[in-house]
Amino acid sequence: MSAHTPTRRLTQSDLGKLHAAGEKIVMFTCYDASFARLLEGAGVECLLIGDSLGNVIQGHDSTLPVTVADIAYHTAAVKRGCNQPFIVADMPFGSYQESPEQAFRNAATLLAAGAQMVKLEGGGDMADTVRFLVERGIPVCGHLGLTPQSVHAMGGYKVQGKTAAAAQRLLTDAKALQAAGASMLVLEAIPAPLAAQVTAALDIITIGIGAGKDCSGQVMVVHDAFDIPPGKKAKFVRNFMAGASSLHDAACQAVAAVKSGDYPGPEHTYAA
Ligand code: KIV
Repeated sequence: MSAHTPTRRLTQSDLGKLHAAGEKIVMFTCYDASFARLLEGAGVECLLIGDSLGNVIQGHDSTLPVTVADIAYHTAAVKRGCNQPFIVADMPFGSYQESPEQAFRNAATLLAAGAQMVKLEGGGDMADTVRFLVERGIPVCGHLGLTPQSVHAMGGYKVQGKTAAAAQRLLTDAKALQAAGASMLVLEAIPAPLAAQVTAALDIITIGIGAGKDCSGQVMVVHDAFDIPPGKKAKFVRNFMAGASSLHDAACQAVAAVKSGDYPGPEHTYAA
């Protein structure tokens, strides 16, 4: 991490400066105060209270049962655990799709818990909701590609954007989210060339997970990166515990690997 005092909470504008300087942004999912402190100590700039907590904390087989109260509880814990990282909270399934007003009420709860930005899944169909939130002072991160809340509609957790038509739709959705005021966009499980094309077409920060090295930054699910529980993970996961002497060491290696462009490598990437 450069150009920041260690005790001030990072802001959107700090992240914008890193992006403008071409520095890769490192985001980890995080659900509690202890991991927040550990990840902060390794120089992680953004913490995402992801609805993946439904899987890795609560033991569900999807993110669908997660509630706003769950995300708010974990967001408050993460905030208490760290002073510097920028905090993004996921809007869980069913908390924003009904209307922009419903989204505002639930996003406000997450901001009150300590989030600086909320993340929601969906493309052009969510543009009005994104605009409504942004106009009322709530920064928004979009999420395209593999959107786990649509697991049943997608027929499973599958790589997205593989056909020319699907790739074009994703690019159009990304532009619609940016035009609506989103300031960050997660791209999950899409071919690396498509993620590179989307990143080049946008001014806002793109954060990849299974989307290749050309995004503006990377997000790692903390349990995946630290191999908890041990075993086979998705293609895009690197086990940073391999060869690490401690969790702190593994987190430092992850930050260094993203910053240097060493992670993700071709072996973590989906081809077109
Ligand atoms: O909930 C989560 O962990 C996420 C990441 C996969 C981006 O949304």
